[in-house]
Amino acid sequence: MKSILFVCLGNICRSPTAKAVFDWKIREAGLGVNTDSAGTTAYHAGSPPDPRAQRIARQWGLDIAGDRARLVTPEDFARFDAIFAMDRANLGELERMRPAQAVGRVELVMSLAPDYGVEEVPDPYYGGVDGFQRVIDMLEAAADQLVEDLRRERR
Ligand code: 4NP
Repeated sequence: MKSILFVCLGNICRSPTAKAVFDWKIREAGLGVNTDSAGTTAYHAGSPPDPRAQRIARQWGLDIAGDRARLVTPEDFARFDAIFAMDRANLGELERMRPAQAVGRVELVMSLAPDYGVEEVPDPYYGGVDGFQRVIDMLEAAADQLVEDLRRERR
C-alpha cells in the first residue's frame, strides 16, 4: 500500500488527526506511504484544522496547523490505494461517489484494528476535548495495526 486518504465529514477534526497519527507511525516504522485527508462536505474547505484538534495533536508532538480542508473528489479513488472513512456516514458517501472502475480499498478506518472493539471514530466536533483525545487513542490503535500488517506483507 503506497498511498492512503483519510476521510471524515468536515476535514478539520478527525481526518487531519488521522493523517498525522498514521504519518507518525509510518515514519517511525521506516515505511514509505503517502497520505492525505479530505472531507465529504466543503463547509470548511480551505480552513485549518479545528483549534481543539490542533491542541490535542500538539500534545502528542504532532503539528497539523498547516493542513487545509478539502473536499474528496472522484479522482481520489484513482490516486489512492486505500481510502479510510472515519464513520459509516462518511463510508456511505464514499460508496455513492465511487467511480465504477475504482479498484482501491474503501473501508472504515477502525476495520484495521478489530480488537479495539469500535466500528467508528465518533465526530468530536460538538463535544468536549475528551472526545478529541479518544479520537487519537483509536487512531493510534488503527495505525499500529496497519504498520504491523504492512511489515508482515513485506516479509
Ligand atoms: P470532522 O468533524 O468531520 O471530524 O472534521 C466535523 C467538523 C465540522 C462539522 C462536523 C464535524 N460541522 O458540522 O461543521
